[in-house]
Amino acid sequence: MLIIFKLYRILKKNKKIMEETQIYITKNKELFLNELLELLKTPSISADAKFSNDVSKCAEQVANFLKSAGADNVEICQTAGHPIVYGEKIIDPSLPTILVYGHYDVQPADPLELWTSPAFEPVIKVTDIHPQGAIFARGSCDDKGQMFMHLKAFEAMMKTGELPCNAKFMIEGEEEVGSTNLGIFVKNNHERLKADIILVSDTGMLSNDNPSITTGLRGLSYVEVEITGPNRDLHSGLYGGCVANPINVLSKMIASLHDEDNHITIPGFYAQVVELSLEERAEMAKAPFSLEAYNKALDMEDVYGEKGYTTMERGSIRPTLDVNGIWGGYTGEGAKTVIASKAYAKISMRLVPNQTPDEITELFQKHFESIAPKGVRVVVTPHHGGEPVVTPIDSIGYFAASKAYETTFNKKPIPVRSGGSIPIVAMFEKELGLKSVLMGFGLDSDAIHSPNEHFGLFNFYKGIETIPYFYKNFTELSK
Ligand code: BES
Ligand code: MN
Ligand code: MN
Repeated sequence: MLIIFKLYRILKKNKKIMEETQIYITKNKELFLNELLELLKTPSISADAKFSNDVSKCAEQVANFLKSAGADNVEICQTAGHPIVYGEKIIDPSLPTILVYGHYDVQPADPLELWTSPAFEPVIKVTDIHPQGAIFARGSCDDKGQMFMHLKAFEAMMKTGELPCNAKFMIEGEEEVGSTNLGIFVKNNHERLKADIILVSDTGMLSNDNPSITTGLRGLSYVEVEITGPNRDLHSGLYGGCVANPINVLSKMIASLHDEDNHITIPGFYAQVVELSLEERAEMAKAPFSLEAYNKALDMEDVYGEKGYTTMERGSIRPTLDVNGIWGGYTGEGAKTVIASKAYAKISMRLVPNQTPDEITELFQKHFESIAPKGVRVVVTPHHGGEPVVTPIDSIGYFAASKAYETTFNKKPIPVRSGGSIPIVAMFEKELGLKSVLMGFGLDSDAIHSPNEHFGLFNFYKGIETIPYFYKNFTELSK
């Protein structure tokens, strides 16, 4: 009740709040865009050691932007991997503190030949979904463009004297490779990272007409498997039919991981999965979704997935198992008659509450070893993982975000659970006891991790405009 009353109060004076900030943003739109384009030219690919100088350069760029925006104690914190950029503005210790998290590292750009313009030479192009133009570049949406909105929103509040509370920034360079060193940094910096809420823009929304707030992220268990048959590659005529072909065997093993209803067959896989009530599912189904448009956008005749669930549900509240890569044998030109000694695959499992990556990885490993025929050896190597999260929709943080979107979009955002993963979010909650608010402004169609990643100019500017209202609403609601 109290929250509703406070919200009403905010609503009444909303017209006036953050006025100077909004004027500053409007005046500086072109400058903000040009600055982001500069940032996008740096190929800060965290996964590839060849780019480590560029990752460091990008950290410096972010630090300089933070400084010129008005942050104090800006520091490039070295880690065993890529640096973390930290900065803060404490205007009054008795006021609430918002800790902004984002990442400046990006996914590799390959396959390069599928980009219509080079991945690190950003250009603005008009698309059906983005009639006002979109910035095409690796990292434009995930997450440089979205992280940058926070730097500019902060700058606008600083330059106009309208920053209503304290702000801290923690921008990492290893999100796309599992945030290992950020985990250590957080453990060692509890005092410095003290805050009331974590604010993240590294997710999406339904569409530009249907703003939404992400209220859940799936967890992740990622493994690599290696199947070894004979000790060397063999002539497929002389040995064919007599030995286990690792590629045949691996294909068969992978195929057996789903049954005919597309349920995952690993024993115990679903044991901890929280089933949503029919009411909750009915609520979810109210979110606008067109199967026809979905199929059309992906050029498919139909969708495919677990029996008994809608596409929206399959992509958010249900766990999955997917092969991300598979290789082995001869893939060069022409035909080479060979039975390879080894075959490999990379497999990801997206997790939902209350599955844990450790348990699921162990179940996978045991099961995968158990289904291998005698003629092969199996090695399962776990990669990084992460816990799923669900965020509350009755918290001050959620109300503050909801009201902020309502102000700038003229429409109440709906809560939507996302299928993606940001493993560090669950870790923040465990280590710092802090909930996150996921205010994403990207679209699923923005092609993050794919060739031709882009970020709508509408989305970029709306993000910068919306964030200051979150600051204001959160400060008011915390009183
Ligand atoms: N920003 C994404 C996650 C995301 C995107 C969540 C859109 C919700 C909506 C993040 O950078 C990412 O790519 N995460 C990885 C996991 C990470 C451990 C590499 C993912 O989800 O595959
Ligand atoms: Mn991201
Ligand atoms: Mn990503």
